[in-house]
Amino acid sequence: ASEIKPQKARRVYIETYGCQMNVSDSELMAGILTRSGYEMVDQLESADVVLVNTCAIRENAEEKVLNRLKHLNHRKRRQPNLVLGVCGCMAQHIKTKILDAAPYVDLVMGPDSYRSLPRAIQSMTTGDPFLGLKLDKSEDYADVAPVRKEGVRAWLTIQRGCDKMCTFCIVPFVRGRERSIPMHLLIDDVKRLVHEGFKEVVLLGQTVNSYYDGEKSPLYPPLTKGEAKRRGGDFGDLLVAMNEVEGLERVRFTSPHPSDATEPLIEAMATCDKVCKQMHLPLQSGSTKVLKAMRRTYTAEEYRELVARMRERIPNLSISTDVIVGFCGETEEDFMETCDLMAEIRYDAAFMFKYSAREGTLAYKTLNDDVSEEEKGRRLREIIELQERISHEINQALVGKIVAVLAEGESRRDAEHYHGKTDSFKTTVFPKGDSNVGELVRVKVESATAHTLLGEIVA
Ligand code: SAH
Ligand code: F3S
Repeated sequence: ASEIKPQKARRVYIETYGCQMNVSDSELMAGILTRSGYEMVDQLESADVVLVNTCAIRENAEEKVLNRLKHLNHRKRRQPNLVLGVCGCMAQHIKTKILDAAPYVDLVMGPDSYRSLPRAIQSMTTGDPFLGLKLDKSEDYADVAPVRKEGVRAWLTIQRGCDKMCTFCIVPFVRGRERSIPMHLLIDDVKRLVHEGFKEVVLLGQTVNSYYDGEKSPLYPPLTKGEAKRRGGDFGDLLVAMNEVEGLERVRFTSPHPSDATEPLIEAMATCDKVCKQMHLPLQSGSTKVLKAMRRTYTAEEYRELVARMRERIPNLSISTDVIVGFCGETEEDFMETCDLMAEIRYDAAFMFKYSAREGTLAYKTLNDDVSEEEKGRRLREIIELQERISHEINQALVGKIVAVLAEGESRRDAEHYHGKTDSFKTTVFPKGDSNVGELVRVKVESATAHTLLGEIVA
């Protein structure tokens, strides 16, 4: 692809909303812009291009962005040359609504259009907003080097899009079909990241464990399943290969889909010492009836069995989850099944949401959003309370134990302390002592809340 040089120095500020995939996409956008001669800045005040990378997963995410755009328009009035762009999932989802609500926006770019960002920013003189909204199943940005902030943990997108089509979810519509990046490129990426000083890599994908090298990618010569297998090509193989990268301390991944939790994945987690014993395994509901309406492709019983199998093979496995309450047709009984399953599994942590109908999805088109807002609120408060209690108990049980923590940086509250994560992804705060950022230290836990461990380094 030809590189476009900016006509004059253009300083770009990117503001990111939503999930880690968006954070990773912002790094990708920074990569595309930097190689075209743009400069990335950390402060809105010094930018002449502001890109808002948006989230469309729930209605409140969209509202937040629309308010933010209004606010940014005030700045645009004072700084008429300011280029304001809306990127990401919401750009793809409600392009016309954005143009109606925020006609002052200069460009609207979906997740498969970021290659055109330099051209879009340059064409700002024409007056009409630049629209980049084609989904492109052959776009994987495999050749683009993302620009990351220095740090200990790097996020690496290994797969884009999603083929699962859960009835509540907008992701397949705004991010398109599933496609994976070839394994040898990912291994090269990780070696480069280690060389740059990163210690931990988090592999990212919407259903990260359905990753398959080559076979599913329309970009590269297709392999038959047999060929791919012989070459070593599924997610378990990728973990095994990552585990061998010298200098890398830890590997994590998010988010796996329960239906793709295969034997090779479990085996790799059980045997690879760099692969953290941590799994974010979205449940969504504990009611098989609701799961069916969601098209999650597993029953509550199958999920329960998977967790049991994984815990048996991977001692001390930390499990977290996502849960939606108030989905179409969810009765009090269904909700109780969710509570019971959460109480039985005892997750280390959970992200919990009220169902939010998304235009375009199958649930929006064919199911009745029949649980009242008030009832959704009550159910949400109830499971949050349940989960807080469980997280607190699990963390209390760690008091007196020694955990391995990768020091990430100074604690926000106290410059004499570092914060970092345990293997199980629990935030831990401890006095710095002689330790350095990027070092793996042993910390004796002295106290704990539902979300944080506090401790001291031990030799
Ligand atoms: N496969 C992705 C899912 C991304 S969305 C992943 O696991 O990373 C993240 C979570 O948002 C989902 O697991 C689900 O719990 C929640 N979610 C998605 N669509 C929603 C909706 N319409 N209303 C409420 N919550 C939703
Ligand atoms: Fe969404 Fe289901 Fe894919 S939650 S991202 S459609 S696995």
